[in-house]
Amino acid sequence: MIINTASSTTAAALSGQPAQGRSPATPFGRGEGSPLPDAPEISVLARLGLRGGPMQSGGAASPVVAQAASGSAVAQAPLPVPHASRHWQLNESLVYLNHAQYGATPVRVLRAQAELRERMERDPTRFLKVDLEPLMDGVREKLGGLLGCSPADLGLMRNATYALCTILRNTPFKPGDEILVTDQEYPSLHNELERMQATQGVKVVKATIPFPIRSGQVVLDRLLALVTPRTKMVIVSHITSASAMIYPVASIVREMQERGIDVVVDGAHSPGQIHVDLGAIRPAYFVGSGHKWLSGPKGIGFFYCRPDRQHLFRPLALSGRAHKVRPNRSLFLRDYDYQGTDDYSALLSLPTAIDTMQSLLPGGWSALLRHNHELAMAGREIVANALGVEPPCPTGMLGSMVTLPLPEAPPHLRNRPTCYDDALQDALLERHRIVVPIWRLNAGDGALGLRVVRFSAQLYNTLEQYELLGRALKIELAREV
Ligand SMILES: Cc1ncc(COP(=O)(O)O)c(C=O)c1O
Repeated sequence: MIINTASSTTAAALSGQPAQGRSPATPFGRGEGSPLPDAPEISVLARLGLRGGPMQSGGAASPVVAQAASGSAVAQAPLPVPHASRHWQLNESLVYLNHAQYGATPVRVLRAQAELRERMERDPTRFLKVDLEPLMDGVREKLGGLLGCSPADLGLMRNATYALCTILRNTPFKPGDEILVTDQEYPSLHNELERMQATQGVKVVKATIPFPIRSGQVVLDRLLALVTPRTKMVIVSHITSASAMIYPVASIVREMQERGIDVVVDGAHSPGQIHVDLGAIRPAYFVGSGHKWLSGPKGIGFFYCRPDRQHLFRPLALSGRAHKVRPNRSLFLRDYDYQGTDDYSALLSLPTAIDTMQSLLPGGWSALLRHNHELAMAGREIVANALGVEPPCPTGMLGSMVTLPLPEAPPHLRNRPTCYDDALQDALLERHRIVVPIWRLNAGDGALGLRVVRFSAQLYNTLEQYELLGRALKIELAREV
């Protein structure tokens, strides 16, 4: 795999010089779903400071303790902590390779959230009655600029799970209507759809997406093969959760809309991981989250609703302000900018999160996306080599998280107790201090599914951490006998 190209932006960050590059269409750069916006190139290894380079200078050392295959504890050389990790408050004894699941919020953003909370508590009445609305306007303004859509078409809520459910509840399905999804969608969506199948009589049609996969075209072809005159809605991830594949959502939206079918793009993983331009994709709906790759505090979800779908689109619960007609403010905004008494400080910190992440490298979002993608690809090479597996997905279908297949545990070890989903994850944490999810793709209905590891790359990660993961996986898999 090629890892010797990269933007100048991280190098520029290290040198303090501004990076060059063409001005992007949105702050993420150009090109739908592209993790690599335009930028000049230098060596990624030099840029990342592969071993003790500038990324590590000034960083503290992280004490990493692992255990040998025999089970005896072995103290390993401390891992260098990348310079960028000072922006986060992650436990330095952890090798944290799971940014994708819950994000991790920079200290500056958490401070901004704390200030908002303090402001609210100095005068809750003023804050919730008067200040909240313009603050929510500011959030939508910032987000709209980032996603290439009008702020007036964005609704804010706690998370992507609520946002997806809100869309489903607002669509007038009839018994027999078909909702087409892929088998790689997030479990909460599958659960919600199962409930709808049982209670509303809709039919859920699931396209099987292969993993390993050759190209995004396979996803489009498999979906199109299942379209019928009863297909009412298609729901697809922009980046799938456990399998970490970028789907060709612009093509999917175009093809489906030509057939008169609305598409919901589940972009929980895309803003902040890849370029998103809703003006170009033009789905009926897009769902996103602010606590994953935008690195905001936990509890930030949002959705885009195309203007022609907004007139009947109401929240799951109507607030005590929903009936208050205001000539200059749409019902859509009135509904979604206040959904009852709550702590809105996470949502309101999103502009600070966007500004903070953008400021970490002089090239802004373009530089960060490129950096994280290239780090993930270098990590993929290291871990795939350690496991002796071929990368299951073309590089063009990947952002900054990677899923690799793992060998199956022998039957007598498959139901070991775990705090997570697989005891291997517990072992990686307890014996190697590595935080990384181990999951199964397409398990259930009697199928065991494919065992996988999914790791992420964020500015606070280093190549050494993927080397450690590769070694730790080899040790722990060898113990599974
Ligand atoms: C593709 C996808 N959709 C939706 C969600 C749900 O996000 P949240 O937990 O923020 O509601 C996730 C969470 O990981 C996800 O991966």
